[in-house]
Amino acid sequence: MNLTDRVVVITGGAGGIGTALGRRFAAEGAAAVVLADLAADAARAAAEAIGPVASGAGLDVTDEAAVRALVEETERRHGRIDLFCANAGVATGGGIYAPDADWDRAWRVNVLGHLHSARAVLPGMLSRGQGHLLLTCSAAGVLTAVGDAPYTATKHAAVGFAEWLAITYRDAGIRVSALCPQGVDTPMLADGLAEGHLGARVIAASGTILTPDQVADAVVAGLAEERFLILPHPEVADYARRRAEDPDGWQAGLRKLVRKLRASFPQS
Ligand SMILES: NC(=O)c1ccc[n+]([C@@H]2O[C@H](COP(=O)([O-])OP(=O)(O)OC[C@H]3O[C@@H](n4cnc5c(N)ncnc54)[C@H](O)[C@@H]3O)[C@@H](O)[C@H]2O)c1
Repeated sequence: MNLTDRVVVITGGAGGIGTALGRRFAAEGAAAVVLADLAADAARAAAEAIGPVASGAGLDVTDEAAVRALVEETERRHGRIDLFCANAGVATGGGIYAPDADWDRAWRVNVLGHLHSARAVLPGMLSRGQGHLLLTCSAAGVLTAVGDAPYTATKHAAVGFAEWLAITYRDAGIRVSALCPQGVDTPMLADGLAEGHLGARVIAASGTILTPDQVADAVVAGLAEERFLILPHPEVADYARRRAEDPDGWQAGLRKLVRKLRASFPQS
């Protein structure tokens, strides 16, 4: 897919990766870019900064009726949705004793948010025999987010769901991509690094921290090639291969890195 004249919706569009995608799609000539986010005012401000092609809207992706209403409103105003980026996501931190409310929120945003998006947008795409769904998952969905069990479990579920969609709907003309970045310089990671969280430090030690604009570059290239797995950090492909070939060796290496980081920053 190229972006010229495309109608695009981006959830989690108020900042970080979502806004960078919107900015880049507008620069590529998109006909309309809708930034939808729980933070409605920030989504509107981000859209205003992009220009008249963009608009902002309030949206909670855990509310299926609201996702459906946004899709219907966009189709009514712009005639269709060519590309839907289900990008909203949350990292709660915590392990097995993270509060149930955190596990529930991670599941509802990181997994059910994608399901609600697919249910809402696929009927229109299927009736036209074309459309592209981009699900922002994470490298945590093909590897592990040290220090965040709910994130790891739900991002793995998101990658599994994206693959299921890709296999099921490809012959009906629908393309699906799973965006799996590692560290990206957004508040989600910057706050963790500032507070010295172990998980954030593992991410920083495992590869380059990209800007959201660099992630948007990788997305535009991945969409042009209609690639399923979009990996802005190429090293993630190598890590995933090593993990698949030798799971025990991979885990031993990761444990060694965690021990080293813990020793140099005991309070994390
Ligand atoms: N920053 C990273 O290092 C990194 C790495 C891999 C994947 N990701 C993923 O990228 C996506 C974007 O994150 P980001 O890094 O730009 O961080 P971010 O926190 O800036 O963006 C996430 C956005 O999602 C919105 N959101 C949260 N819950 C929502 C809900 N219920 N409904 C609608 N919007 C909601 C937030 O308001 C926020 O604007 C997320 O899915 C995240 O998991 C981030």
